[in-house]
Amino acid sequence: MLRIKNVESGYGRLKVLKKVTMHIRAGEIVTIIGANGAGKTSLLKTVSGLIPARSGEILFDMKEIGKLPPEKIVFLGCSLVPEGRQLFAPMTVKENILLGAYPQYRKKRGDQVREDLERIYGLFPRLRERERQLAGTLSGG
Ligand SMILES: Nc1ncnc2c1ncn2[C@@H]1O[C@H](COP(=O)(O)OP(=O)(O)O)[C@@H](O)[C@H]1O
Ligand SMILES: [Mg+2]
Repeated sequence: MLRIKNVESGYGRLKVLKKVTMHIRAGEIVTIIGANGAGKTSLLKTVSGLIPARSGEILFDMKEIGKLPPEKIVFLGCSLVPEGRQLFAPMTVKENILLGAYPQYRKKRGDQVREDLERIYGLFPRLRERERQLAGTLSGG
C-alpha cells in the first residue's frame, strides 16, 4: 500500500532523511520509533508532501506520490494527523471532524461520511456529547 524507497529529504542544507526504505501493506499498523530529532515527523511530512522528497520514490497504492502537492495526496486517501492540538477553534467539534472528511464530500460520498462519523462517535462517545461545542473551548485533556 505504501512503498518508500531510498527517500531523502530535509530542510535547507540539513539532510534529515537518508535513503529511508520501508513497505507497509494494507491493514498493517507500523510504528516508527526513534529519539527526539531522529526524523520521524520529517518522514511523515515527506510522505504527505509537506516537505519535498529530494530523491527516492514514494508509492501509495502503486501510484507515485513523491512529487505531488499535499492536497492531491490527501485526495488519494493518504492523510497525516498532525501532532499537537491543531483544531479550528471557532468551529464546533463536529465541524472539525467533518473537515477531515472533505475529500469524501468532494467525491459525493456523504453516506460514507455519515457511517464514518457514527463509527468515530462509537469509539469516542464524548465527541457526540460535545459535537456542538466550540473546539477552542475544550480543555486540553
Ligand atoms: N522546520 C524545520 N527546519 C529546520 N530543521 C528542522 C525543521 N523541522 C525539523 N528539523 C530538524 O530535523 C531533524 C529531525 O526532526 P524531526 O523530524 O522533527 O524529528 P522527530 O519527529 O523524530 O523528533 C532535527 O534535527 C530537527 O531539528
Ligand atoms: Mg516528531
